[in-house]
Amino acid sequence: MSDFSAAWLDLREPHDHAARSRRLEERLLDWAKAHECRIIADLGAGTGSNRRALSTVLPAGQSWYLIENDPVLIEAGRARLDADARASVRYVEANLAQELETAVPADVDLLTCSALLDLASLEWLQRLAGLARSRNAALLAVLTHDGQIRWRPGDPFDARIATLFERHQRTDKGFGPARGGDAANLLADMLAGDGTVIRDTSPWQLDTDDRRMQQALLEGYVAAAGEIEPQEAEEIDGWNRQRLKMIEAGRSKLRVGHMDLLFLPR
Ligand SMILES: C[S@@+](CC[C@H](N)C(=O)[O-])C[C@H]1O[C@@H](n2cnc3c(N)ncnc32)[C@H](O)[C@@H]1O
Repeated sequence: MSDFSAAWLDLREPHDHAARSRRLEERLLDWAKAHECRIIADLGAGTGSNRRALSTVLPAGQSWYLIENDPVLIEAGRARLDADARASVRYVEANLAQELETAVPADVDLLTCSALLDLASLEWLQRLAGLARSRNAALLAVLTHDGQIRWRPGDPFDARIATLFERHQRTDKGFGPARGGDAANLLADMLAGDGTVIRDTSPWQLDTDDRRMQQALLEGYVAAAGEIEPQEAEEIDGWNRQRLKMIEAGRSKLRVGHMDLLFLPR
């Protein structure tokens, strides 16, 4: 899970779709029916998971712009484009750190992103809030990591790993220093004066059978923690071996916290 490979995005997609806030999607649907909501920009679209989740929720006649800077993911996403009679879909290759305002169509009705905000800096979040305001667009940002990681059964070293992972989350992910677990609340506060802002939780609730997903996450936590504090390699390695054993034995559960955020302009 250290990079955004298509294999990682495929593995997480069913868990992402199960975790998304239905309450926020219903509120968005009410808004979309009352306003003409046709032009939709998905920021950091990857292979298109967010569109696959949302296009069946929204009224037909949607025109999607999937904005992504990784040509390999764009190719994988194009191969997954289904014949969706409800929507027209096109990829736009752009680096959102530099080209946010130009990559998004001028007449956008809905800005959306999935698992992107925690990579963003404070300055970029301000640009995104400014864009929603200036285009009078709604915004749905789902699955922003909120910093909470809870393993069951617990281990005294879990908290240390979560702290190191969160420190890693706040390094530069291409947008300047990332805001990690604070990002969704920061954006919500920036938009609060300009319309309706609704927040909801959307955790992954991984059960003992979800071994591959737990293993992939474990691998990511271990790599991130080791990068931040290489001198703790021995403790991290010991923790990793214990966790792996429990996952393989079907005795491990994992809850990873996310926040979904919906902004509806006045
Ligand atoms: C965690 S993945 C989520 C992908 C997809 N939204 C999903 O839910 O499956 C983050 C995505 O943002 C893209 N991304 C990261 N930085 C970007 C940038 N500066 N410009 C455009 N896309 C970016 C990555 O390539 C990746 O596809």
